[in-house]
Parts: sequence; structure tokens; C-alpha cells
Amino acid sequence: MGVIAVIGGTGVYDPSMFENIEAKTMSTPYGDIAYTQGSYKGKQVVFLARHGMKHSIPPHLINYRANIWGLKKLGVTMIISTTAVGSLNQDFGPGHFVLVDQFLDFTKSRVSTFFDGHGKKVVHLGVGNPYSPALRTVIEEAAKKLDITLHNGGTYVCTEGPRFETPAEIKMFKMLGADTVGMTNVPEVVLAGEAEIAYATISMVTNYAAGISPTELTHQEVLDIMAEMSNNFKALILETIER
Ligand code: HPA
Repeated sequence: MGVIAVIGGTGVYDPSMFENIEAKTMSTPYGDIAYTQGSYKGKQVVFLARHGMKHSIPPHLINYRANIWGLKKLGVTMIISTTAVGSLNQDFGPGHFVLVDQFLDFTKSRVSTFFDGHGKKVVHLGVGNPYSPALRTVIEEAAKKLDITLHNGGTYVCTEGPRFETPAEIKMFKMLGADTVGMTNVPEVVLAGEAEIAYATISMVTNYAAGISPTELTHQEVLDIMAEMSNNFKALILETIER
């Protein structure tokens, strides 16, 4: 079995849930990355904070290629990422977990492939199943055991950020079939696919999206809900890794 990576999103910066942890850095062809190596119940794990340990890297400036390239180099065969999301679906309330199975890409400025010419062969990744169905099933079973509310399936729309959306944009995304909205899953899931690493993301609903919620969203609101959900999140990750 290969190494399992956890990519922590907003509110998830602490690798201390793992054992034998050691902070490391690596140079990649795309830039340097910082990560933590460790283990859990005899399995090798790597933890990487997507926004940096101090949440200093905004979604559109994350070095997605360096992160995924580095994880591949470390022998990672499975990535469980976390994402804070707004909900466009009345059934997905704040405090719920969602395993999305599709995405809509509304990013604008990101390099979203390893296959960017420069003499390399042209590759078109198939994205019929961008989020590993097998890995999602394992996470779903772990959630059932822990009695955590989790929805398996849904469409995630990725916006460019770092601003939140207008109510008009959310109305459009809803018409297009989106259930959740966030800023980081694309190109991360695409690059994982290109690197042939199984990928799933555990989305934590922190709020109803703009225009659905009666109040203006703040980043603090997202962080507060994430803090409340963090114990469940850690339990879910550890139960999944154990399986
Ligand atoms: N929009 C975009 N990203 C988010 C949201 C949202 O409403 N909530 C948490 N991350």
C-alpha cells in the first residue's frame, strides 16, 4: 500500500492527529513545498496545509502543481483533501460533510495541468470520475460508523476567489446544477488525476451561499464553523485511514 496524503484546507492546519510527525521541505520543478511526514496505526501519511500553516496563501496563488508533484514523489497513492464550502442545496446544511463527485470549473488564472507543452506529449485526462468512487465509499462508511452526517455525491463549483460570490453568481451556479461552492478543488483534483493519484475531498459546509443565506458571509464565520467541526473531521480522517 502506498502513502496516504491529507491536504488540509481552511481551518485544517494541524498534523498532530498523526504519530511520529516530522516537518519537512522539498524542492520540486514548480517550487518548494513544506509538509509533515508521519504515520497512523502503522500506515505512512503525509500532511500538507494547502494555504500554508498560517493561512497566508490565497486560493488563486496556491502552487497546486508543486504540491501534487511533491506528493507523487513521496509515493502518495491516495489523497484525502478537505475543503470548506458554501451550500447551494437546502439539504446540505452548515455542519454537514459532503463528498462531491463532480465539479464545475469557474477558475480564471490558474495553471491547471502538468501537460503544458514544452516538448512534452499532449495528454487529455478523462474526468468522468474525478473523485475516486472507491475512496468516497470508504469515507462514507467511516462516517456511518462515527454517526457523522455526510452526503455522498454532489457538484462542486470552483470559483477563482479570493472574494466570495455575488448572489447573482450563486443563482447562476444553482441553475447549472451546483450543490456546493469553494475556491480550491480545481485544479487540485485535476492534477491528482494527471498524476494518477486517487483523490477525494471531504467538504465541510460552513454556510449557505450568498443570497441563500440572509446575511453577508465573512471569513470569520467560515473559521468558526470549521473550528466546531474539526473534531468530527479529525475522527473521520483517522477512521478512513485505518480502513
Ligand atoms: N463561497 C466560496 N467559498 C467558500 C464559501 C462560500 O460561500 N464558504 C466556504 N468557502
